[in-house]
Amino acid sequence: MHPITDTEVRSALDRAAEQVRRSLPLYAGRCQNHSSVDGVYPPCENVQWTCGFWPGEIWLAYEHTGERCFREAGLDLVESFDRRIREGIEVDHHDMGFLYTPSCAAAYQLTGSESARSAAILAADQLLRRFQPKGEFLQAWGAMGAPENYRFIIDCLLNLPLLYWAGGETGDGRYAEIAQRHTATCLNYSFRPDGSTYHTFFMDPKTGAPVRGETCQGYRSDSFWARGQAWAVYGSILSWRYTRASAALDAFRRALDFYLTRLPEDLVPCWDMLFQPESGEPRDSSSAAIVACGLLEAAELLGGEEGARFALLARRMVGSLAADYAAPLREGGGLLLHGTYSKKSPYNTCTQEGVDECTSWGDYFYLEALTRLAGGWKPYW
Ligand code: GLY
Repeated sequence: MHPITDTEVRSALDRAAEQVRRSLPLYAGRCQNHSSVDGVYPPCENVQWTCGFWPGEIWLAYEHTGERCFREAGLDLVESFDRRIREGIEVDHHDMGFLYTPSCAAAYQLTGSESARSAAILAADQLLRRFQPKGEFLQAWGAMGAPENYRFIIDCLLNLPLLYWAGGETGDGRYAEIAQRHTATCLNYSFRPDGSTYHTFFMDPKTGAPVRGETCQGYRSDSFWARGQAWAVYGSILSWRYTRASAALDAFRRALDFYLTRLPEDLVPCWDMLFQPESGEPRDSSSAAIVACGLLEAAELLGGEEGARFALLARRMVGSLAADYAAPLREGGGLLLHGTYSKKSPYNTCTQEGVDECTSWGDYFYLEALTRLAGGWKPYW
């Protein structure tokens, strides 16, 4: 695939900002559904785990253009996120980082908003409450300690930067300590010897011992859910940024190597990497966008020949997305076509939603990757 050029990056950013601008009136103070329906995102209340991505796109569009309309829309949403955490609306799960990093940590970084800062710290506190000392992990979903939900999931690596951020803001060492204990458990058990990953991993609530890996959104428990692998790639290099633990860098390289062995020619995987495009199974473009961000993070941290190789690979992935996956401009439309949220299989436990649609995080990470490629970006994560 042709690596995206700087000129193409700028024009893709202009187009993305135009898409976000067109959709501002539709959502005014509200959020986007996790995935589109026939290419358009219905507005939703601030109750889903994915609601942080729309404000994240607004902040990235603000960084690209400096336009007031984005700043105002982003700050309006801070009020909504502040209320959500203070009133405890749908926050009994681990996705505080997905919610509060691109919405409030970003808003604080860009505007100094004190309500954004305090909302994000409260969200980090809420995430700390998900920690299970027996087994040393942040419990993903469900009532704390319930045996049927005594597990963590690979996606959680992206929730941890909120903890490191809160530690930096408050000077309280507990945030980083819990993040590191969770990471150690995740690196030990979520990663298989070949570098592929389990989506979810159960621990024994009585002893804290590892029990088994099991999928929720992948095809089967022993298959290769593409987005889980993408979270593993980006999440492990972010962990390395914060900890410099060699296990995290090693996990990044292994997860990436595995991911690359299963990619089709256009560098956009099917939703589960058990499948190749000839199978007719849908793609998940969001995985490509997430991995591109991980590669660009690694390129910056590592530099040298390896870094240059990662940057080129990211340019090829983003080039493929920009050339063949860009959605048409329309009010309520997304940026990237052909994402897959949850596809039901005979072996998994998810509800089917958002198959071959735009996904809110796919759009966000595509815009993040473009922003990274434009240079000079200070990450929200
Ligand atoms: N974190 C859930 C997902 O990636 O769909």
